[in-house]
Amino acid sequence: MRQKTLLLTGASRGIGHATVRRFHNEGWRVITCSRQAHPEECPWGGGAEDHVQLDLGDPADTINAVGLIQERIDGKLDALVNNAGISPKAEDGGRLNTLNTDLADWGRVFHVNFFAPVVLARGLKDELAAAKGSVVNVTSIAGSRVHPFAGAAYATSKAALAALTREMAHDFGPMGVRVNAIAPGEVETAILSPGTDKIVEKLPMQRLGQPSEVADAIFYLCSDQSSYISGAEIEVNGAQHV
Ligand SMILES: NC(=O)c1ccc[n+]([C@@H]2O[C@H](COP(=O)([O-])OP(=O)(O)OC[C@H]3O[C@@H](n4cnc5c(N)ncnc54)[C@H](OP(=O)(O)O)[C@@H]3O)[C@@H](O)[C@H]2O)c1
Repeated sequence: MRQKTLLLTGASRGIGHATVRRFHNEGWRVITCSRQAHPEECPWGGGAEDHVQLDLGDPADTINAVGLIQERIDGKLDALVNNAGISPKAEDGGRLNTLNTDLADWGRVFHVNFFAPVVLARGLKDELAAAKGSVVNVTSIAGSRVHPFAGAAYATSKAALAALTREMAHDFGPMGVRVNAIAPGEVETAILSPGTDKIVEKLPMQRLGQPSEVADAIFYLCSDQSSYISGAEIEVNGAQHV
């Protein structure tokens, strides 16, 4: 049996870190990407040789990373999970809206949250096709409604990523590659803002989600259990969207 390979962006903490653990426990090789170097104490994954240190907000760095990743895999990529994301706030911690978001900041959010997934998926399409692989884009509940903390740049980038999922499912389908999204609600990671507890009180399930619960949904979409699912966006939010 060939060991399956996952390329995961934003693996250093939060949902990404839980996703490394989940795939590693299932016997997958996980190649990780983030701005930080691979921490020595990290007990899972292949260590430094399976980590690509890059800034997904830098288009040249991201295009260059495609070649580095191709050198590390055997021509087959079973899954690409576009998880890295940024959600900038105002200096006082407030929400950045359509009136006060600096255009340069808006562009940086789009580079990390939207263009990096385009560059990686297109750059690695031959490897994904060779493995009949799966792409999972991590969107957000903020992509489909105004959120009290997530800003306008973040929300529009996630709406665009959801639309990209639909377009890619159409274009990659003939290659045998499935493309789906998962849209988390309020998940217990560093990205959450103070005051999230007020949102959680009103959720039908009345609790935060755990990163491992999101990782489980990502794993499902990369497994044969979801072999006829493509172009879908799965809500992982304790019924926040109802
Ligand atoms: N937590 C939630 O409630 C929630 C809700 C909805 C959607 N989401 C989405 O879920 C995904 C993961 O969120 P999280 O809560 O786990 O976030 P997090 O704890 O803030 O982690 C973000 C990850 O992205 C990486 N990253 C950020 N900017 C990067 C860049 N320029 N280049 C490369 N890597 C970068 C970070 O690594 P480095 O710092 O090392 O670069 C980190 O590993 C994001 O797309 C987020 O929008 C989260």
